Amino acid sequence: MLFRSLAPLPETLKREYLDYAVLVRPACVANTLLRENYRHEEDFFFRSVHLGTECWGFIVLDRLRSAIEQVQKYDHWQNAAAHLRSAAHILDYLGQHVMMLTSMVLRDYLRLKVEIEGTSGEGSSAVKSFRPVIESLFVPLADALLGGGDRGEDDELLKAGLLDLYEHPERQPGLYNYAKALEIVESSLLGGFYFRHFCLASNVIGSTAKGTMKKSVAALKKTYEKQLFPLLDITRSTLGAKLDAELVQFKGRIMDDIERQRRSPSPEALDDPFDDVKAVAGLSPPRVMGMNRSGGGGPAASLTFSPPVTPPKGDAAGGDDHSPRNLDIVQIGRASCRERV
Ligand code: HEM
Repeated sequence: MLFRSLAPLPETLKREYLDYAVLVRPACVANTLLRENYRHEEDFFFRSVHLGTECWGFIVLDRLRSAIEQVQKYDHWQNAAAHLRSAAHILDYLGQHVMMLTSMVLRDYLRLKVEIEGTSGEGSSAVKSFRPVIESLFVPLADALLGGGDRGEDDELLKAGLLDLYEHPERQPGLYNYAKALEIVESSLLGGFYFRHFCLASNVIGSTAKGTMKKSVAALKKTYEKQLFPLLDITRSTLGAKLDAELVQFKGRIMDDIERQRRSPSPEALDDPFDDVKAVAGLSPPRVMGMNRSGGGGPAASLTFSPPVTPPKGDAAGGDDHSPRNLDIVQIGRASCRERV
């Protein structure tokens, strides 16, 4: 009965594979390897790492475009976030990949460098387009938060929307997860790829040298210092400042409690998680039943020195470790996994 109601298989199967001959062009690869004339020792290695980076670059761009499509066509923020995270993985990897070039023999590379003047990684079109494409991923988030309204001159409305999103992640988990994925992909481009590329350039040609396009290695610092999503950064700091002000009375409470317990006149009355272990090892007398802090009643109660702990006002908004807020975030994570599947 059950299988009668199942939909029949489609007659023409979708083509889910890539055309190897068109994509890889094996003859071209063989010619590159066997027929091309490499006049410099490091030439083949240098080109392979560059071109390998550029190939991965196409995959990164594809993931980023899929993320945009998931949002624009299907309004599926969780899927978009998953695509962004896989792009971020590749960017992290690419940082390590280009670092392989530090193993070149410097003398041989410098001989090659003279001859490749006028061209450089700067010419890698896929890699060069990472930044603008990733920056454009912020637009759908802003539009969703503003409900299609205008961003206005000073972005105040958008800042308020972002603050609300970060303060109440459980209300719009898809958008929140997408914003967090933007942060991850930003770190992977700046820290994963561009910072390592800067390290590579300083390791190989030296930090005061100039590249093959006459730009200095020092100037590459801008590539990893310039943020992609400054408004997300502002949101994080604003939320921190807001909560600091709201919870000012609890500042340093955990350390104060520990300090108070440490100065307590009879520290032996305090709960020591290793008491039982010590007792078994014969290091201290076994605990008398009812003498621990949580036991309450009888003489044990008068040995309690830890001050009462006041939870922050309004349980849910408070932010103690066990608050529903934290549980909600765990649930958001689970929901996102389910949607990705
Ligand atoms: C020995 C290895 C490398 C050195 C010493 C190096 C150095 C430099 C330098 C100095 C620049 C500034 C422009 C110039 O004058 O050339 C630059 C730019 C650039 N390089 Fe490299 N690079 C190396 C490898 C790579 C690799 C493997 C890639 C991967 C495709 C790459 C991608 C880029 C990109 C995309 C830029 C432009 C950065 C921007 O947006 O301004 N580089 N590189």
